[in-house]
Amino acid sequence: MLKWLSKFCSPQQLYDAGVLGMNARNFHIISKHNQRRLYPLVDDKVQTKTLANNIGISTPKLIGKIEHQYEVKNILDIINQYTEFVIKPAQGSGGKGVLVISDYHDGIFTTASGRKISYAEVYQHISNILSGLYSLGGKYDTAIIEELVHFSDVFKEYSYQGVPDVRLIIYKGYPIMAMTRLPTKASGGRANLHQGAVGVGLNIQTGKALHGVLRNQPVTIQPDTGADLMQIQVPYWQEHLLIGALAYDMTGLGYLGADIVLDANKGPMMLELNARPGLAIQIANGFGLKTKIKEVDKYYPENLTANERVKFVLNYRHAK
Ligand SMILES: Nc1ncnc2c1ncn2[C@@H]1O[C@H](COP(=O)(O)OP(=O)(O)O)[C@@H](O)[C@H]1O
Ligand SMILES: [Mg+2]
Repeated sequence: MLKWLSKFCSPQQLYDAGVLGMNARNFHIISKHNQRRLYPLVDDKVQTKTLANNIGISTPKLIGKIEHQYEVKNILDIINQYTEFVIKPAQGSGGKGVLVISDYHDGIFTTASGRKISYAEVYQHISNILSGLYSLGGKYDTAIIEELVHFSDVFKEYSYQGVPDVRLIIYKGYPIMAMTRLPTKASGGRANLHQGAVGVGLNIQTGKALHGVLRNQPVTIQPDTGADLMQIQVPYWQEHLLIGALAYDMTGLGYLGADIVLDANKGPMMLELNARPGLAIQIANGFGLKTKIKEVDKYYPENLTANERVKFVLNYRHAK
């Protein structure tokens, strides 16, 4: 995971840089701050959507869901008003089983990468989702059908055929680290780093690019479009931070990842939450989470509202 940093740094240097490793994340941070009983709130995307909408955070609209095999045949009725949509497992992760349909006409489905698929294939895909093929622990799952997000033009030259997102790490309700994840040809329209998407660390106060990472290697240009990643400035930055801060209020999880997409017309939306967010964000930022966590424990006030926490972050004089 942190191979790139470890190439340049000794274990002592990594420790001094405040890099959080997998064990420390699991045992000191996650088990201490995230109660197990709260996990279903974020592990199930239907529940996450409902909670988010209840406190006024927008999400891609749920068109419908399919819970049982005998309902799979209803798919054409569910999507009958739509020519584009996304089908995905409610309890999936890492982009597995996400089928982005950018066009549906006359019984032919076209995926985001331009592949044409038939009704039989879509039927099989949903059936596979229900049987747990893409889900945590292979449990039976629900298939979600939701509206397609049209990402904002500001990201156009930075991503290839897919929706980029912003991943925030939220600790005790404070957004502490950020990166944008940009789909590439290799990642098939998905913004997941282990599918081959590019990660670009963002300054938490401004939303401006810091460093890029692709498959654990440093990178400064988008591999498919050639665009200069260091020019990225995510707009509506304060709104992104507020969605992150509210993710804490809505779940009670002390440490979590919030994934936010910027729709061209509807603005920033929460796509999903994660109770065990990955650690590569540290590489994209060039500094460690442990440093930030210590900073929050020591200097950040408790009992502020989400809005106040965002203001605090924006005005804090960061060590980095
Ligand atoms: N509604 C949507 N519109 C457009 N792209 C989407 C949509 N939902 C998911 N995607 C694409 O698929 C990726 C993975 O979906 P996500 O909901 O985050 O599931 P996972 O838990 O598998 O990461 C996203 O990062 C995004 O690139
Ligand atoms: Mg995701």
